[in-house]
Amino acid sequence: MRLDVITIFPEYLGPLRESLLGKARSRGIIDIGIHDLRDWTSDVHKSVDDSPYGGGPGMVMKPTVWGPALDAVCPDDALLVFPTPAGEPFTQHTAERWSREPRIVFACGRYEGIDQRVIDDARGRARVEEVSLGDYILIGGEVAVLVMVEAVARLLPGVLGNQQSHREDSFSDGLLEGPSYTRPASWRGLDVPPILMSGDHARVASWKRQQSLRLTAQRRPELLASAELSAADQQFLDT
Ligand code: ADE
Repeated sequence: MRLDVITIFPEYLGPLRESLLGKARSRGIIDIGIHDLRDWTSDVHKSVDDSPYGGGPGMVMKPTVWGPALDAVCPDDALLVFPTPAGEPFTQHTAERWSREPRIVFACGRYEGIDQRVIDDARGRARVEEVSLGDYILIGGEVAVLVMVEAVARLLPGVLGNQQSHREDSFSDGLLEGPSYTRPASWRGLDVPPILMSGDHARVASWKRQQSLRLTAQRRPELLASAELSAADQQFLDT
């Protein structure tokens, strides 16, 4: 998978070189290009923004810089992503869908956003998604890209050690994942739930499922509406 990020703060994307993502890069599973938007400016000040038409606070990123940057970095067959608080929510489902893309380009906006014509123009030739990390405002899209790239990259074969592990994640079945335990069996007066040491795989699986259901009902009840629930799940929730 090839990922490209266009930003005015290339150093901000440094963490993509660390840890599991760095390993995925050196193993050739992902190839990441980071591009400085200012390389496409044409004035001595390398300015990327200007005051908004119609007034209002802040600055808007210039189409005359973003246009050539996207022409150079984003091929027509790539998926082009604009992180923005006004976008569609980024979810595990989005990450799974994107993990099947051979090429994604992320365009990081700052300030009050990017001139809308940049997005409208790009839609004329590439597949464009405007995506939000959540209902809060970040300073720019860079941190959102770090989050989205990590969520996508860990789904690629060979990035995580254990391929089973992301099948059991929170959200992969639409529910929150319950608690985990490791040795010792007793620690600071707190015991591991005995059922986990019973060796009875069917009972352990059913206990884990119930923990997930309980946690989801407590913390994210709205997720239950779209989760696939068995009759046994439903009965558990009703009691
Ligand atoms: N840029 C600023 N805030 C954002 C958010 N919540 N999600 C994605 N990009 C953003």
